[in-house]
Amino acid sequence: TAPAPADLLDLALRAARAAGRFLVQERPADLDVAATKTSPTDVVTAMDRGSEELVVRTLRAERPDDGVLGEEGAAATGSTGVRWVVDPIDGTVNYLYGLPEWAVSIAAEVDGEVVASVVAAPALGETWTATRGGGAHLDGRPLRRGRGADLGQALVATGFSYEARHRALQAQVAAQVLPRVRDLRRAGSAALDLCGVAGGRHDAYFERGTHHWDVAAAALVAREAGVRVGGLRGAPESEELVLAAADPLFDDLHALLDAAWPASWPA
Ligand code: IPD
Repeated sequence: TAPAPADLLDLALRAARAAGRFLVQERPADLDVAATKTSPTDVVTAMDRGSEELVVRTLRAERPDDGVLGEEGAAATGSTGVRWVVDPIDGTVNYLYGLPEWAVSIAAEVDGEVVASVVAAPALGETWTATRGGGAHLDGRPLRRGRGADLGQALVATGFSYEARHRALQAQVAAQVLPRVRDLRRAGSAALDLCGVAGGRHDAYFERGTHHWDVAAAALVAREAGVRVGGLRGAPESEELVLAAADPLFDDLHALLDAAWPASWPA
């Protein structure tokens, strides 16, 4: 029998808290972003790896036979039907610069479907959680979104891929969205951008070029808060597009994005 989502959530929370403490306490105080040597990025890579190891070790201690997919390379198939999807630092550039918008993101999938998730943002002192059918919460307070804003009044979060070949096209799309909405935000963490829709901090979020681990946990938080999450032309969310907004804003933004998308996009 599949484990209860609440039990998976409990374990994910403990893993996320352990990683969060590590990332806050062990972040070198003298991370010098302006240094010309490559060390700051190396330090962040080391912290990323350390966080992922801590998360995987915590999960494995109690559930050694589950599958794992982690941004830093953790990969195991598992034999229980449960797979953990881990982003050890979502928002690594913010972490590097000492900005607080970064998160440890952990999703528990059962037979390919996310049933429990945690997006913990230690530097903000906030934890977003959700279980499938059990609602979404911010620090234990239930989240429930109503009808979406009108397009022209919508505050829309987005993000840009780190891959240069995508960025010029992403800027083109953003240039077409910007005159049609209240404003755009680029905070630097896809997971927190999605949770932000659940929490009403902005009205919508869209991005092309995310990875599964960036959004797996936060998409459940948004859905359980009553936000619609999907991709292009009825497809589920994917690297091609993650769009999140309450109805009917979802459809209005989708139409705008569908028209704005350049026909050819480098793979
Ligand atoms: C990145 C952040 C960023 C988004 C990128 C992601 P990472 O994740 O979520 O906001 O725009 O697409 O790759 O690399 O910091 O885990």
